[in-house]
Amino acid sequence: MKKILAINYSQSGQLSEIVDNLISAFTDIDVDRINVEMQNDFPFPWTPKVFYNAMPESVLKIPAPIKPLNFKHENYDLILIGYQPWYLSPSIPTTSFLNDAGLQKRLNGTKVITVIAGRNMWLTSQESVVATIESAGGEIVGNLPFVDRTSNLISVITILHWMLTGKKTKKYGIFPKPGVADEEIDTSSKFTPLIQDALLADDYIGLQEKIIKTGKFSVLTTVMFIESRAKMLFQVWAKLIKKKEAKSQQSREKWLNVFKYYLIFAIFIVSPIVLLIYSILIRPFTQKSINLNKRNFLYLGIRRK
Ligand SMILES: Cc1cc2nc3c(=O)[nH]c(=O)nc-3n(C[C@H](O)[C@H](O)[C@H](O)COP(=O)(O)O)c2cc1C
Repeated sequence: MKKILAINYSQSGQLSEIVDNLISAFTDIDVDRINVEMQNDFPFPWTPKVFYNAMPESVLKIPAPIKPLNFKHENYDLILIGYQPWYLSPSIPTTSFLNDAGLQKRLNGTKVITVIAGRNMWLTSQESVVATIESAGGEIVGNLPFVDRTSNLISVITILHWMLTGKKTKKYGIFPKPGVADEEIDTSSKFTPLIQDALLADDYIGLQEKIIKTGKFSVLTTVMFIESRAKMLFQVWAKLIKKKEAKSQQSREKWLNVFKYYLIFAIFIVSPIVLLIYSILIRPFTQKSINLNKRNFLYLGIRRK
């Protein structure tokens, strides 16, 4: 019997629900399910202070202690890694379990599918996760990027409402519901037969094509443009704040406060202006390379022929 490991951390349960629905539809396959737990968990709902405080360690991929992972088997035919991006990087819990020696050992020589459930910016975190999987000797064969499909700025407001209140509800009754749409969560098992067929045939070529079509997964040009630039800026901020922390904890806190105002200003003032200029002056002349980049992200690390 083929063996699958499905592993993820989830705060609100959104990602776990997607992964659970997905694995519930496998037939005659031995599925080992691990829900990762932190030694000291992040609060949910978040306080604003803790929310911004997670930035430097997320971006610099600094792990935190997790509770021991109890694997059922020494090796698996396929590993499903679920994760959520934090600050355009793998979340701290994700970095932490990806660093686990037991998981790293099981990734070696194993096919891997990533399942993402984020707001809408997963591109640069996926670059990082794919690199980690590959350096452990794993081979990425698929990626299911579930996102909030409302507009970028609206989803910033709605996700903050969700994260800071713990309620996945419509803010003021007028904003859309935050996160991945219920319908997409409830129907994530539609991908299971695609994965099961590939697993049984041990042939994953063409799987990602089918996943993209079935999930109508895409990359938005504007998100791609913002994300690659924002990631570089986050790295500068993260290093600066760690440098300040080396001086004193107060200094870290002071600079995190500056970062908070910077982030709000960058999201709501700078990025709309930059995007407008980009859309008028650059985008029309670079469509070919934009399309190429989108495909690269949708197939990151995946062997196609
Ligand atoms: C601190 C923090 C930072 C986040 N940053 C991003 C991000 O950069 N890109 C993104 O698509 N989603 C981001 N999100 C949303 C998460 O990826 C995720 O969808 C949400 O936290 C729910 O995940 P859960 O299953 O752990 O509850 C962020 C969430 C938190 C709490």
